[in-house]
Amino acid sequence: MMAKNLLVTKLTPQQLIDYSDNGFILIEDVFLHKELDMLSQAVTQSIVDNESGTKHLRGIVAEENHGTIRTLNGLHLEYEIFAQLCCHPSLLLLAQQIICDNNLYVHQFKINLKEAFTGDVWEWHQDYIYWLKGDGMPKPKAISVAILLDDVTEFNGPLMLVPGSHKLGTIDVLPQQSANIVNQPSWMSNVTAKLKYPAPKELVAEAIKERGLVAPKASRGSILFFDCNMLHASTCNLSPFSRRIILITYNPITNADPHFTHPRPNFLASRDFTPLATTTYNNFL
Ligand code: SIN
Ligand code: MN
Repeated sequence: MMAKNLLVTKLTPQQLIDYSDNGFILIEDVFLHKELDMLSQAVTQSIVDNESGTKHLRGIVAEENHGTIRTLNGLHLEYEIFAQLCCHPSLLLLAQQIICDNNLYVHQFKINLKEAFTGDVWEWHQDYIYWLKGDGMPKPKAISVAILLDDVTEFNGPLMLVPGSHKLGTIDVLPQQSANIVNQPSWMSNVTAKLKYPAPKELVAEAIKERGLVAPKASRGSILFFDCNMLHASTCNLSPFSRRIILITYNPITNADPHFTHPRPNFLASRDFTPLATTTYNNFL
């Protein structure tokens, strides 16, 4: 079936209400297959560039048990196609509408590969606690959008969300130290399968009992926006199908701390606070 390209640039009042109630919204078939192919090729190229030494990509994280790539961080700073993607109207205009702020920057850009057979778990967590403690982000105003580069099914480790859990606010968690990262740079502890701020299990169980659990399945090219206090996780991928997603986090310029001491590396928490402007659609193609 031919992918539809909706070029969505506005959410309906009902979609905004749903977002506010649930803390997430899935919009299907936003990107064309040829756009997805270009993005996929750029992902592959970045790995080749790094392996050949053409580029030194510092934000690459490997899976602990398999050595396959788990995450590529900060590629929007290295490749024009990913910089352009951040300004795609269907992402940026919707993010502006959800956050109610037209002056946004990209706080974080990452690609989670969750490769066939080897992609590992993401433990239960909320994102904002990392940005509060790691980057000094004053308020939980940031939102993320996942762009599905592969079909997401029940088999390849879909993102699990607790609808409405963003209303719990930010759960304070003491930092956990993973034994496996002792000889690694400190930023690693935020991104490996053993997370620094995992949500307490009893609290997750209680939230799911009260609010339920969803794992949105959708074809590649769909996008999923979610709140920075959303409780989320994903299981490992034992299927032969990779589950690659691009995650872009938008934050208002006014909600960044440019003077934060000990900022994390730029590829993990961007410090370019210039407001993003949308590209025209043709530019991206
Ligand atoms: C994340 O929480 O940042 C990623 C989760 C996933 O890729 O499943
Ligand atoms: Mn997360």
